Amino acid sequence: MARKTESTDSFQSIRRGRKQSKQSQVFSQEDHERFEAMRTVFDEIPNDDRPPAGDRWSIWWDSEPLQRGPEPHPDWVITDHGAVDYELGVLKTGKEADVFLVERVVPGTDRAVILASKRYRSAEHTQFNRAGDYTVGRAAKRSRDNRAMAKRTTFGLEQAAGRWAAAEFDALKRLYAVGVPVPYPVQVHGTEVLMEFIGHGRTAAPRLAETRPDESELDSLWEQAAEALRRMTELGFAHGDLSPYNTVVHEGRLVVLDLPQVVDIYANPLGLTFLTRDVENLGSWFSARGVDRELVDDLHAEVLALAARP
Ligand SMILES: Nc1ncnc2c1ncn2[C@@H]1O[C@H](COP(=O)(O)OP(=O)(O)O)[C@@H](O)[C@H]1O
Ligand SMILES: [Mg+2]
Repeated sequence: MARKTESTDSFQSIRRGRKQSKQSQVFSQEDHERFEAMRTVFDEIPNDDRPPAGDRWSIWWDSEPLQRGPEPHPDWVITDHGAVDYELGVLKTGKEADVFLVERVVPGTDRAVILASKRYRSAEHTQFNRAGDYTVGRAAKRSRDNRAMAKRTTFGLEQAAGRWAAAEFDALKRLYAVGVPVPYPVQVHGTEVLMEFIGHGRTAAPRLAETRPDESELDSLWEQAAEALRRMTELGFAHGDLSPYNTVVHEGRLVVLDLPQVVDIYANPLGLTFLTRDVENLGSWFSARGVDRELVDDLHAEVLALAARP
């Protein structure tokens, strides 16, 4: 208590001291005018930081190293300080996130790349509060974040959206590293995940559900799906929402998308349930189109055995 009084006193005396020095005439009138002139010049410098072209400066350098994609970066990744991002429009709006098309360009050069930008919503109408099952076993390190999320404050919703973006980026990095076919994760920044755009030009690759593969294409896609599931399981992950809508087909290659709810099959008590559901959601689409149902059941048994391996 005594200390508090003491520090309050000294704080006041500092303030008094400032007041006094302000009153004393330190600068000559001439100096004063010179400083005023400089201030006017300074005020005229435009204080908006928008780039001369593009909709924003590239946010590449705004992300910490761990929030950028694994090295070596593919050569199409643009890391130039002078790069800008153009907003090309919405690719798809969803319940929790919207996917935009962004073109990252180095002005004055012919270097440009189109990226998919997935932006998680932090608005009140998102469904994040239903996400309990997925996040069991995913520890939140900062208790302020947890309390805020529990209260569903604006801060909390923003934190939750950022957490989903970080979770998706992390899953993309880990799956990419072991060769699961996912878009290359370029960077995460707050609630935005930038990743490789799967498609031609500005046209997105079709979702598996929209494709009509012939017999040999079907077999190949099934093999790729099975292999992706095996690798994820070996890594200890279930996708958590694998389906013909969260996989796209590009030049005969199956690419897995939409990974924010990735499930740790060991930490999450429902891990094997999610794994089973992933196999079933994808497998039933394939078996309805001619893949032998037995192959789906075999894969189910195989991934459960993989998951049970110490
Ligand atoms: N990297 C990408 N390249 C091409 N298309 C993408 C990409 N990411 C998302 N999409 C398209 O946007 C849709 C929605 O993306 P997704 O990650 O599944 O988000 P949501 O949570 O809204 O389902 C996908 O079904 C796919 O058609
Ligand atoms: Mg999806």
